[in-house]
Amino acid sequence: MVESIRLNLQGVLDESYDILIGYGLLESIPSDLKRNPIGRKYAVITDSNLRDLYGEKLLRGLKKENINACLITVPAGEESKSLDMVKYLAEKLLENKLDRKSAIIALGGGVIGDLSGFTASIFMRGIPYIQVPTTLLAQVDSSIGGKTAVDTKEGKNLLGAFYQPKRVYIDPSLLKTLPEREFISGIAEVIKYGVIYDRGFFEYLERNVDEIRSLNEEKLYHIIRTSCLIKKSVVEEDPRDENKRAILNYGHTPAHALERLSGYKCLHGEAVSVGMRISGWIAVKKGFWRIDEWKRQNKLIESFGLPLRMEFNLEEFIKTLYYDKKIEEGVLMFVFPKRIGEMASINGRYKIPVSEEELRLFLAELADI
Ligand code: GLY
Repeated sequence: MVESIRLNLQGVLDESYDILIGYGLLESIPSDLKRNPIGRKYAVITDSNLRDLYGEKLLRGLKKENINACLITVPAGEESKSLDMVKYLAEKLLENKLDRKSAIIALGGGVIGDLSGFTASIFMRGIPYIQVPTTLLAQVDSSIGGKTAVDTKEGKNLLGAFYQPKRVYIDPSLLKTLPEREFISGIAEVIKYGVIYDRGFFEYLERNVDEIRSLNEEKLYHIIRTSCLIKKSVVEEDPRDENKRAILNYGHTPAHALERLSGYKCLHGEAVSVGMRISGWIAVKKGFWRIDEWKRQNKLIESFGLPLRMEFNLEEFIKTLYYDKKIEEGVLMFVFPKRIGEMASINGRYKIPVSEEELRLFLAELADI
């Protein structure tokens, strides 16, 4: 005899949270946490570049509000997104006596956000965390939506969890100290939002290249806010990345392979730019997208000084693509624009298969274009 006892968990969790955006917001995080606490004690996790710039300041601010907090630093760079670093952080959290009522504050770019979020997801079976993104890329993308991960030697983000932050504080003034190359890298994700979701926003970017590049406050605020709103809508519709959320990964399948092949020397957004040219071209060849729109996308990418091409060995590239998480039953899956501002779907599914033969054929042609 088999008895079935159902454990019902439907609708138990409310994972909603606020994304706060404002110039100078970093200063008011301590007082906001005093008014609206997330934990009884906080560990600010940051990297070696940000410790002196913002980490110490945030810690001082927290202490001034009599909030129990400590500061933990990891080396800057993608190499820190590893299981070894998760172990290091867990040990530091234990050393600093954080417990289940404590929270992590991830102060940094995508590496710090992903690493800290993943650590929070497993520390004592999960403690809350807050995102304080300091790069454009993290402010418009990785700090929102609860994707946390570390890399393995096989590829990017292969170990991780969906684990939403409890709050996101976005202070665009932090971008003033960001190296220009890093800022421009973040613009790739902003262009992506225009291509996948919002034609008007794409056109806004076309009209405001120079002002955005010179960090005009109003324009910068607008692009961050719009990107957050687009990301919020997509994540609300598909939080667990079962279908629609894949559109946020436009250009990312080739990008992740290129990043790995470059030994992570190219920045994520640079790889995404090249990846959007590649994925967009495949969209054109498969008949989803018009070539003039593909060219228009590439023109915008170039106008921000982002790369469209990278040298790579085709066979190595194809082999590396197979480590992508979008793979389904051994078949490579891509997402494709059908017009600027809208993604293609087949029978309601956004991930579209591409055979290795198609890929070889299309990529060989792309080399001449
Ligand atoms: N960065 C892609 C996503 O959050 O789904």
